[in-house]
Amino acid sequence: MLTGKKILLGISGGIAAYKCPELIRQLIAEGAEVKVVATQNALQFVTPTSLQTVSRNKIYYEVFEPIGNFNPEHISHADWGDLLLVAPATANIIGKFACGIADDALSTLFLAFDKPVFVAPAMNDKMYQHPIVQRNMRQLQAVDVQFIEPAYGELACGTTGKGRMEEPENIVAYLNDYFE
Ligand SMILES: Cc1cc2nc3c(=O)[nH]c(=O)nc-3n(C[C@H](O)[C@H](O)[C@H](O)COP(=O)(O)O)c2cc1C
Repeated sequence: MLTGKKILLGISGGIAAYKCPELIRQLIAEGAEVKVVATQNALQFVTPTSLQTVSRNKIYYEVFEPIGNFNPEHISHADWGDLLLVAPATANIIGKFACGIADDALSTLFLAFDKPVFVAPAMNDKMYQHPIVQRNMRQLQAVDVQFIEPAYGELACGTTGKGRMEEPENIVAYLNDYFE
């Protein structure tokens, strides 16, 4: 179902970003083309070289390009993509999306994007249950953002709870079901 789909993969700065090369590999195996839009903090957890190599595309993570190279990428990427998948989505990026803040490549792209958006949150269970995070997600659902719920299990901080990013194969299955 993902054959020929142009997928923008938004990556924010959670530990689950280390799973993104595998997620990209699986999306491409399903016939999709993938371009990565990352926050600066995401690149603390996964290297641009890995992302570019696996996606076979240049990654986008800076709003401002060197002078002389005019191409506002938040617009050109938004035009290119058929869907935006944000995985992992931090509490921070969910909050920015909900408030319309556009101060980095991913949050700016989100506002310029008018096609289906899927968000896979990943965070500590207390962060996930925080009323502000829950409120932000409800606000985004009200504007048709689809949430791929995190799983229950062992968290990177050493505790157990609901907050693990859904596994790449389940994210791919979710998208396949959606487009079926
Ligand atoms: C080791 C480490 C792991 C983190 N993991 C998460 C996470 O899984 N989810 C989350 O929401 N924030 C996590 N954070 C906090 C975010 O990195 C922080 O809120 C950051 O500002 C998010 O930036 P971004 O949303 O622009 O990528 C983590 C921080 C550190 C130092």
